[in-house]
Amino acid sequence: MPPTDVESAQIVEPATRIAGELRVPGDKSIAHRVLMLAALAHGESRIAGLPDGEDVAATVACLRSLAVKIDRIGGPARVHGGGWRSFSPPHGPLDSANSGTTMRLMLGVLAGSWVSATLDGDTSLRRRPMARVIEPLRSMGARIQSEDGHAPLTVTGARLQGRRHVLSVPSAQVKSALLMAGLSASGPTSVVEPVATRDHTERLLRAMGTDVHVAAGTVEVRPSHQPLRPIELAVPGDFSSAAFWMAAAALRPGWSVAIHEVGLNPSRTAFLRLLESMGAEIQVDADNTGVEPHGSVTVTGRRLRAVTMGAADVAAAIDEIPAILIVATQAEGTTVIEGAAELRVKESDRLAAMSEGLRRMGAVVDERADGVTIHGQAKLRGATVDSKGDHRIAMALAVAALVASGPTTIEDADCVTISYPDFFTDLQGLAK
Ligand code: S3P
Repeated sequence: MPPTDVESAQIVEPATRIAGELRVPGDKSIAHRVLMLAALAHGESRIAGLPDGEDVAATVACLRSLAVKIDRIGGPARVHGGGWRSFSPPHGPLDSANSGTTMRLMLGVLAGSWVSATLDGDTSLRRRPMARVIEPLRSMGARIQSEDGHAPLTVTGARLQGRRHVLSVPSAQVKSALLMAGLSASGPTSVVEPVATRDHTERLLRAMGTDVHVAAGTVEVRPSHQPLRPIELAVPGDFSSAAFWMAAAALRPGWSVAIHEVGLNPSRTAFLRLLESMGAEIQVDADNTGVEPHGSVTVTGRRLRAVTMGAADVAAAIDEIPAILIVATQAEGTTVIEGAAELRVKESDRLAAMSEGLRRMGAVVDERADGVTIHGQAKLRGATVDSKGDHRIAMALAVAALVASGPTTIEDADCVTISYPDFFTDLQGLAK
């Protein structure tokens, strides 16, 4: 039965089977980065496959407010880049909406520009920690004012000095903001990560002609007098969106989903190895040519067993934890996730939101300050659950609803538009 939309609530019926093949919207992480770097390049970049979600729209709007020309009508988007010097002072605050990546990366871009701008966001984004990016940028000479480490953030472009940063929390957003600031700094900028995080920025920078060195957990950029070269890129499907369908397929033996043209960057695909270790059957057909690996993934459900995850596993699958928790409810044994406190400062407190939603559906969940334990196998029942306005919570609970014993109402479900506007239509296509 099709899901019913009641004032932004969605009702998802149990499925008798999940089967099919599809593509998912373009990768959000790559899209933010390529738009910003194309604005910093000199010349016209062409970007196919940009996703329609609200997060990427926020980055486009921020860049346009700085007078960057971006055409998105039909075919690939065209960004007419002119470098930092081409930015005009914006007329009002730059609205990052719900997007942490927009705010943190734009801060890095603007820190070394010659304009002043205020970056703001919605109530969720205003709650999220920004000191992790403000402090290291200030150590390079950036001038940033904040509300006690939170948005709104006012940045006044300054001359930056490259330096070595040692991150205490693994964060691709912080790393990327510092590398982008480093492009306009004098001297090299390096970032030492406790655990390797997604490397889309490094790949794009290299493809656009920047000197980027990666060795022993350290990434270094050396600013050049040459401007960045424009780029032509086809953004692959977002692995983190595809993960919900992979999780759905894994829930019952014989269910199967194939996702085509999806990003397969190894710094993003730890979830596949986890699913496999839980018992799911995974087939990957990868094309490793070009800036970003991509290809097809088929997941087929088999008997599932529990898994144990520590901080490094969590960092490697940071956006897939809500999906993993759903799979864990259907696995035999106890799944223990530790070192996951970062999930409390995402678009919502994801440990709390998932624990609450799954408990309402009948799962036994122990929530701790830095993790959760799920006691499998749970017989889930339909319930009314709350997405907390977080796209990944809405999608994870919708997947859980497929194996519940009655209909599930997901409140505040239209937040899926942040990354995957057609999520419920695609769900309807896969659920039999
Ligand atoms: C992202 C990095 C991750 C991730 C977010 C996107 C990125 O955040 O959770 O959805 O594009 O760099 P952190 O860097 O805060 O871990």
